[in-house]
Amino acid sequence: MLLTRRQLVGTSLLGAAGLAAPALAGVEPTIPMQLGPFYPVAHKGEIDSDMAQLAGQAQPAKGDIIEVMGRVLGPDGRPVAGARLDIWQANAAGRYAHKGDDNAAPLDPGFQGFAVLKTDAEGRYRVRTVRPGIYPAGNYKRAAHIHFSVDGQNDRLITQMYFADDPWLSQDRTLLYDLDSKGPPWPKQIFGQEHKLAGSTHYMFDIVLAFG
Ligand SMILES: [Fe+2]
Repeated sequence: MLLTRRQLVGTSLLGAAGLAAPALAGVEPTIPMQLGPFYPVAHKGEIDSDMAQLAGQAQPAKGDIIEVMGRVLGPDGRPVAGARLDIWQANAAGRYAHKGDDNAAPLDPGFQGFAVLKTDAEGRYRVRTVRPGIYPAGNYKRAAHIHFSVDGQNDRLITQMYFADDPWLSQDRTLLYDLDSKGPPWPKQIFGQEHKLAGSTHYMFDIVLAFG
């Protein structure tokens, strides 16, 4: 059987179990965005991949439970294994567990708010969380978003994932600034791609590092 070059590239990535995804050609690097003021430097609690349920806490996080998953990729589309992802966000009411957040919305004792993950051998990550609420930022609102800081093998990227059905996108001046006002229409890569599966909502969000 003759294989195309692309198939050969994909084949070379196959592990013993044959589960690796083939490499993609020419993927666009993820757009860097602001760190924002609420990176959870002082966080002392759990940092596992389930932000919606704390150990020993009877009540899960309030709000719509979602899963966010995807791959960290290099510029050639190959997975970046062992990349570190710091993921943080507001709770469903739009409040960060951060000293600097003066939003009057309530804290949620059942919400972890911060996770630190590593990608697997295929560059994959997965986190269970809640859809974040919008929150005030001066005279506008921050559209719903999840913050990511990703350390790859050669590169570090800070970005935010948005929700394509969010009515607050076009007034969010932070988003407009990060995109140099390129939108709407918005670049597709800023959104998690929504999939509803057996009663739960998943968002696929691949992150492409310029240097892997
Ligand atoms: Fe934020």
